[in-house]
Amino acid sequence: MGNQILKGKRGIIFGALNENSIAWQVAERCHTEGAQIVLTNAPVAARVGQTEELAKKLNAPLIYADVTKMEDLETLVSQSKEKLGGKLDFVLHSVGMSLNVRKKIPYTELNYEYMHQTLDISAMSFHRLMQTLWKQDAMAEWGSIVGLTYIASQRVFPDYSEMAEAKSLLESIARSFGYHFGKNKKVRVNTISQSPTKTTAGSGVGGFDAFFNYADIMSPLGNADAKSCADYCVSMFSDYTRMVTMQNLFHDGGFSYTGIAADLMENFKDPNS
Ligand SMILES: NC(=O)c1ccc[n+]([C@@H]2O[C@H](COP(=O)([O-])OP(=O)(O)OC[C@H]3O[C@@H](n4cnc5c(N)ncnc54)[C@H](O)[C@@H]3O)[C@@H](O)[C@H]2O)c1
Repeated sequence: MGNQILKGKRGIIFGALNENSIAWQVAERCHTEGAQIVLTNAPVAARVGQTEELAKKLNAPLIYADVTKMEDLETLVSQSKEKLGGKLDFVLHSVGMSLNVRKKIPYTELNYEYMHQTLDISAMSFHRLMQTLWKQDAMAEWGSIVGLTYIASQRVFPDYSEMAEAKSLLESIARSFGYHFGKNKKVRVNTISQSPTKTTAGSGVGGFDAFFNYADIMSPLGNADAKSCADYCVSMFSDYTRMVTMQNLFHDGGFSYTGIAADLMENFKDPNS
């Protein structure tokens, strides 16, 4: 039943590919909390994902849209307003893809055609989405827009490759568009910087297991999983966070502010001292 903290709210959720997807967990949680949602994903997800299964389970309309195509987003936003019966209270951008990472191309040898696509899909799409919402005046006052990001936007994690640049851009777009959305429409825009999470996109990053285990040891609370990220998203969509905007919010069990974990220090002790 949940606590119905999103009762009466309407939203769009991008990026629920399969049960492991962070967006899948967010969609389920939003549903439990009483929201009405539209699900969306890339058209190719119809073949490779299970978004349709989730749509049936939650009785949510599913509208396919490629985030690199303006016309797809325009149709998605206008049809969502129609299907949900009013303006939107929240939107989750949970989209990321890097061709250079997928093809295991080293960072020092990036293919720039692929890099264009990475930045387009993973970051510029956030601007394109917000521009569409803006032009159609689709957000209700005190609405909330959230994008998902990773700390490699700010600190170097070599295997994260060009996705680091994509996430820096995504976070910057959240701040810049957040200003205009706040000032003109009383809508908040934030990014949530999530722990490594075992999903299709996450596991595509080289050495993901080591990455995941290292973060788990370093974080005083351990890694935050997809379900707890969903809880945080719900709170960001709720009326309890109305004055939070233009922030990059760490949801990482304390990883971002930990210099070294005591458990790891053991490995560096001088055996002779
Ligand atoms: N998994 C992690 O470790 C982790 C950590 C921090 C942040 N994130 C971020 O969380 C978000 C969700 O990723 P996830 O880990 O749940 O993986 P995921 O693979 O389940 O989700 C990524 C989604 O992006 C969608 N997508 C890709 N190209 C698209 C396009 N052109 N148009 C529309 N949709 C498209 C995919 O279909 C998929 O549903 C991403 O932004 C990711 O960078 C993930």
